Amino acid sequence: MLFQRVKPLDEILATAEKRSLKRQLGPIQLTLLGVGAIIGTGIFVLTAEAGQKAGPGMMVAFVIAAVVCALAALAYSELAAMIPVAGSAYTYTYGVLGESLAWVVGWALVLEYAIAAGAVAVGWSGYMNGLLRSAGIEIPEMLRTGPYDGGTFNLLAFLITLVITVLLVVGTSKSAKVNAVLVSIKIAALTAFIVIALPAVKDPNFHPFLPTGWGSPLGGIGVLGAAASIFFAFVGFDAVSTAAEETTNPNRNIPIGLIGSLAICTVYYLLVGYAAVGSVGSQPMFGANGLAIHPGTPELAEACRGSQALVCSKEPLAHVLRMLGFEGMGNMIGIAAALALPSVVLMMIYGQTRIFFTMSRDGLLPAVLSKVHPRFHTPHVVTIITGIAVSLFAAMFPVGILADISNSGTLFAFMMVAIAVMILRVKQPNRPRPFRTPFAWIVCPLAVAGCLLLFLNLSMYTVGLFFAWAVIGLVVYYLYGYRKSHYAHGTEPPHDGPKLPAEPAFHEGPDLGP
Ligand code: ALA
Repeated sequence: MLFQRVKPLDEILATAEKRSLKRQLGPIQLTLLGVGAIIGTGIFVLTAEAGQKAGPGMMVAFVIAAVVCALAALAYSELAAMIPVAGSAYTYTYGVLGESLAWVVGWALVLEYAIAAGAVAVGWSGYMNGLLRSAGIEIPEMLRTGPYDGGTFNLLAFLITLVITVLLVVGTSKSAKVNAVLVSIKIAALTAFIVIALPAVKDPNFHPFLPTGWGSPLGGIGVLGAAASIFFAFVGFDAVSTAAEETTNPNRNIPIGLIGSLAICTVYYLLVGYAAVGSVGSQPMFGANGLAIHPGTPELAEACRGSQALVCSKEPLAHVLRMLGFEGMGNMIGIAAALALPSVVLMMIYGQTRIFFTMSRDGLLPAVLSKVHPRFHTPHVVTIITGIAVSLFAAMFPVGILADISNSGTLFAFMMVAIAVMILRVKQPNRPRPFRTPFAWIVCPLAVAGCLLLFLNLSMYTVGLFFAWAVIGLVVYYLYGYRKSHYAHGTEPPHDGPKLPAEPAFHEGPDLGP
C-alpha cells in the first residue's frame, strides 16, 4: 500500500507546465541566488537561540548544520535537474516512492515553507520592535510578542505576513535586481557587524565552551540541539537546485552555486558567531534545576526579563553592537534586517503556494486550491488561505519554536530526496541526469544520516508535533486524496489543467522578491 501509485517520471514531465526557460544563469548568479535565499532570520535572530542551547559551542553547531546541508544539497540537485517541475520534493517522491509517501512529503513541506515563513516574520518583528523603540515609538508589550514569549499577540509579524500575502496575490515575484540589492544589504550588514565586533573579542567569553554539552536525543539542547535549530539558517539553498533548467552547464554550475553559496554563508555565519560570542559572551540562562532553559518558553521569557544577555535578545546582532557602544550601527543592522527579511517571508509563502497548487492539480487537495486568478495569474485562493494561516502562527508562536518545527519538515523531506536519488540510480540508471550527485553512494547515505541526526536532536515536543502532523496528514489523505487522486483514477487532465505562467528563477522586472 505504501509504495503504490508511483507516477512515471515521463508522465510527470509531460503533465507539468511546459516551461522552456532560457539557460542564462551562470555560477555567479546562481551563487547570488543561493546567498539571497539563505541569509535571513537564522543568522540575524536564531544566533540567540543557538547561544541559549549551546553557549559558545554554537560555532560547532554552525559547522555541523552546514555539512548536513551541503550533503543534502548535492542529492537534491540531482533530482531538481532531472525533474525540473513545480512541487520539488513532493513531485520527486511521487515519481519514485509513490503517492502516499509523496503526500507525506508534501504535507511535511507545509512545515518547511509555511511555518518557516512564520518564523522569519517573527524574526523580522523583533528587529522592527527594536528599531521603533530606538525611534521612541513603543508598541505595547503585549503586542510585541506572542503568548509563549511574554506577550499576547505579535502584531508586527501578523501585519507583515498579510502585506506579503497581498503582494503575492497581485503577482509580486522574484527580481534579479532586487535580489542583488538585498544580498548586498545583508552582506554589508554582516560585514559591518564582523568588523566592529571582532576587535572586541575576549578569550574569557569562550569559557566554558560547551556549557550544555553535546546534547542527547530529543533533548533539543546542547551542540547538536543547537545544530538542529541553526539548520534553519542554511535552508533556502534549494532555490539554486530549482533553477537547474535555467542554468548554463548545470553539471558544473549547480554544484558551484550550491556549494559556493553555502560556503560563503558558512564563513559569514562562523565569523558572526565568533564575533558575537567573543565580544559579549553567550552563556545560556539556567533554571533553578541547574539545566539550561528551553528557548521559546515562558520560563525563559521570565528569566530574561530585564536581562542584557545575548541569549535573551530578539535582535541579537543589533543588540551586540549597542552593547559595544555602537548604537547607530546597531540601528543600521536593524534597518538592514528589516529591509531584507520580508523577501525571505515572500519566498517561503510563494514556495508553499506552489506545493499546494501542485498537490491540488494532482487531485490530492480540492481543486479550488489550484484556481488561478483571471487578472493576476496567481493562485489567489491558496495564497490567501496560506497567508492567513501563516499570519496567525506568526502572531502566536516564538521564532525558535517555529524554526524547529519547520526544520523537522525540511529534514524529513531532504531525507526522502536522498533516498529517492539512490532508488532512481538503481531503477533507472540510464535516465539522463543533467547533474549527477558526486560520489552518490557515499554522499546520499551520509545526507540521510546527517538529516536523521539533526531530526533526532530537535526537542521531543517538536518531533512529537511532526509525527502528530504526519498522522493528521495520513487521515486527510485516506479520506480525500486517496479517493480523488487524478493519477489513480486516470482523470488527470494532461494539458488543459490549471497552469501558472512559466516562472524563471529570476526575472528582470522591478518587483520585490528574493
Ligand atoms: N535560511 C533562511 C533564514 O534564515 C530560511 O531565514
